[in-house]
Amino acid sequence: MRTITWNTEAQCLTYIDQTRLPAELVTVETQSVTRLADGIRRLEVRGAPALGIAGGYGVALSCFSHQNEKAGQAFCHAVETDAAFLRATRPTAVNLGWGINRVLQTALPEETPEAAFDAALREAQAIEEEDIALCHRIGANGATLLPDTCTVLTHCNAGALACVEWGTALGVIRSAVEAGKNISVLSCETRPLNQGSRLTAYELQADGIPVKTIPDSAAAHLMRRGMIDAVIVGADRITPDAVFNKIGTYMHAVCADHHKIPFYVAAPYSTLDLSQTEADITIEERARNELAICGDRQLMPDGVDVVNPAFDATPLSLVTAIITDKGIFRQPYSELAKQDERVEP
Ligand code: MRU
Repeated sequence: MRTITWNTEAQCLTYIDQTRLPAELVTVETQSVTRLADGIRRLEVRGAPALGIAGGYGVALSCFSHQNEKAGQAFCHAVETDAAFLRATRPTAVNLGWGINRVLQTALPEETPEAAFDAALREAQAIEEEDIALCHRIGANGATLLPDTCTVLTHCNAGALACVEWGTALGVIRSAVEAGKNISVLSCETRPLNQGSRLTAYELQADGIPVKTIPDSAAAHLMRRGMIDAVIVGADRITPDAVFNKIGTYMHAVCADHHKIPFYVAAPYSTLDLSQTEADITIEERARNELAICGDRQLMPDGVDVVNPAFDATPLSLVTAIITDKGIFRQPYSELAKQDERVEP
């Protein structure tokens, strides 16, 4: 089952509602840009590559909903307004803006709203198909880095649920297992939204890949005990000086460096943002309730405020290698820029 795709029969976007996993596997079907924006904000659909695809389909939905607008300026203005609204939902993952811009650039030059919708839909579908192929390339590239038998620590969810299928960090693990390697995974629970314990454990269990969940705070202890051979994470944005990924990633990189454990980042080339540096990037700050409430339990006294950044930045000096669909890049990462053919974020 694909994480996100277009339902041709119902003419709507369909995606797995990740807030309901692992208890229930349910999908959201929508034709509404506002509904999609809300779903992105609530993390129903999440993970950098899936956000790029969602953004692309969001532009298609916008073109569809403005079919009665007069062709030309009014139509373009309406679609660009929707695109800006979608882009603002999550500021850190570069793929969201990348997917939106790529589809806008294809759709807006068309002469009629109908033609713009057709072009937008085709382009969003192309991004979806490309994601599958490039995750398999990332997987094949990264699998070569793992020993035949090893325990890999991962953080958050950079798997099929963050993409269309296969995944980036989990794609490397899946490809290594497919190549006959004996891989066990330690999945950090990834507080506060538990993408590791809810989603990574769910997907790996479904594939029969050995997985155990650990508290985020157990990682350093397990590294010191020699129980972790490699760390692999995904990325939401890679600038020339840092990798942005789920909060807690930096902590694992520092600990891996201290214990001389390789720290790998797996991401599609579209996650690179070579035009900016760490200081330019906004780190999404999330709501107090994510820390203060768990189900119907209050976890903090009323009146105590929180600091709840969704992502952190890991300096490239702590990253052993970046595994992309275009190959493996290593220190000092000067080769990264040479491949750039991206649409500006
Ligand atoms: O807040 P989320 O769940 O969207 O954060 C996702 C991550 O940090 C992932 O590791 C990243 O997007 C890579 S997904 C292949």
